[in-house]
Amino acid sequence: MRIALVGAGVIARVHMRALLSLGMPPAAVCDIDKGKAHALLAEFSLSLPVFTDYTEMLTDFAPDAVHICTPHHCHADMIVAALARDVHVLSEKPLCISEADIPRILAAEAASRATLGVCHQNRYNPSTLFFKNYLADKTVLTAHGSVPWHRDAAYYASGAWRGRWETEGGGVMINQALHTLDLCQWLFGYPEGVTATVANLSLADAIEVEDTAAATFRGPVPFTFFATNAAGKSLPVSITARTQDEELVLLPHSVTVNGKTAFHEAQNIVSGKACYGMGHATLFADFYGAIAAGRPFPINGREAARVIRMILAMYQSEARAVALAPIL
Ligand SMILES: NC(=O)c1ccc[n+]([C@@H]2O[C@H](COP(=O)([O-])OP(=O)(O)OC[C@H]3O[C@@H](n4cnc5c(N)ncnc54)[C@H](O)[C@@H]3O)[C@@H](O)[C@H]2O)c1
Repeated sequence: MRIALVGAGVIARVHMRALLSLGMPPAAVCDIDKGKAHALLAEFSLSLPVFTDYTEMLTDFAPDAVHICTPHHCHADMIVAALARDVHVLSEKPLCISEADIPRILAAEAASRATLGVCHQNRYNPSTLFFKNYLADKTVLTAHGSVPWHRDAAYYASGAWRGRWETEGGGVMINQALHTLDLCQWLFGYPEGVTATVANLSLADAIEVEDTAAATFRGPVPFTFFATNAAGKSLPVSITARTQDEELVLLPHSVTVNGKTAFHEAQNIVSGKACYGMGHATLFADFYGAIAAGRPFPINGREAARVIRMILAMYQSEARAVALAPIL
């Protein structure tokens, strides 16, 4: 596999470490900022071809796979361009930032001989898998997801694309809370509709997108969701599920049932910020394993589009009920 890393910023370091840990070093790096590409390579003592134009890289280098680690607004075009050349794509979340991008990505995926995967790595966390298995034969009556995090003006100033509708496509929901909302729909089923409000409570001078959101989802399991980047400090993400007899809480590295620890991860190995979890390498191994075995990869375009539709419906809601179109 000749893998090209596209975008040499914060998350590219996590991709690099995960690829190296799997014995699959990338073969090229592409970033519009040549200096960033070289800095990444120097950090890992690698000497590889560097490209500054993505399309040129696809044509001239002809990789077998690309890892898309660029800002949100780049994802859809980059995914479609690679799939059109039958190049495998592992894209960072979010899949895309607009409703119009969903059908064109799914069409490109259907027409391509290559595989598309999206980095929803928290689905691979051992605690998440324990939680999902524990609930497999139980009826969940209601649930709640919570993301109480802290992101300040300096964080948003660290990249010109952050904090803007045009380039980030939203705020706390489409960036930080996407993983937890995706887990909610993966665990409890794709909702039929949502009523939500979003607001900018603490960063009005710094960003145009929301820093806080609250939602109630209707569906197979009704659940509520709260996310903020306005907490004084980042506090643990949690998902709480209520069955007839039990209250389960999924935390980043453990699960409690009726207040008692039912599962605790033996090793809390993280790559990058603790909140990224340890799932990137596991997800990559599954992605390349699926390609080698000729089996479908579970987090494909159709799967990753669900949470995008949920988030876009939250943005549209303005406290009114919005129906969610299924992902066909
Ligand atoms: N899965 C996770 O937990 C997780 C965590 C952090 C970030 N991310 C995602 O990773 C992506 C990148 O985030 P980041 O924090 O690394 O951002 P960043 O700003 O640190 O890095 C983005 C890089 O992309 C480059 N770039 C911009 N446009 C480009 C183009 N057209 N072609 C090539 N390179 C281009 C920039 O120069 C920059 O070096 C985002 O989608 C973000 O949501 C995912």
